[in-house]
Amino acid sequence: MTEPEAKRPSKIPGANPKGSALPGVLIRPVKPADIIGVIAIDTEATGIEKTDYWHELFGHYGSKRQQRFFLVAEVGGVIYGFIIGEVRDWEFGAPSCGWIFGMGVSSTKRLHGIGSALLGALFECFNRAGVEKVRTIAGRNNSLMLSFFRSQGMMAAPVIPLECDLP
Ligand SMILES: CC(C)(COP(=O)(O)OP(=O)(O)OC[C@H]1O[C@@H](n2cnc3c(N)ncnc32)[C@H](O)[C@@H]1OP(=O)(O)O)[C@@H](O)C(=O)NCCC(=O)NCCS
Repeated sequence: MTEPEAKRPSKIPGANPKGSALPGVLIRPVKPADIIGVIAIDTEATGIEKTDYWHELFGHYGSKRQQRFFLVAEVGGVIYGFIIGEVRDWEFGAPSCGWIFGMGVSSTKRLHGIGSALLGALFECFNRAGVEKVRTIAGRNNSLMLSFFRSQGMMAAPVIPLECDLP
């Protein structure tokens, strides 16, 4: 995969990813040495350190693949954000769709456009993969993620997630 350009406008209808206002932000595919930084950002956001989970995820999404993308935002050699996405074909009968599975920006560098730049770069990967629709799931009480995704042109989808407790 070539390195994505953070500021190119997306061709995905309705999408409105903004570029980063912070100078020196490099959005690039994750490398093994970045995982420590990714774990730190996720631990800060969720309060749970999941070292094994992240190493497993790196194995699944970290190498060069056509449909799976794991990008990081680097400023001056330090990792300040990450995003993970995947193209899924004909899931539940739907045509190819880009799914955003997770993202995070260090609290020390939020509101500088890094999240927007990461999302814009992921949209570019999705564009190259030929999809025209992007979906994600956010907690209904997670107003921060909902505000962020809305600011990028994403709106409520015509699908409902369902769940149950297994006996
Ligand atoms: C959501 C998140 C990724 C945004 O990253 P960021 O780099 O701060 O985002 P940006 O600077 O690109 O913000 C883009 C837009 O999002 C919206 N936004 C971002 N932070 C916001 C906040 N605290 N309140 C309201 N809107 C906000 C704004 O519209 C903003 O545009 P503006 O600055 O022009 O107003 C970051 O706050 C984060 O990682 N939060 C924790 C994520 C989390 O909970 N992860 C665990 C579950 S997945």
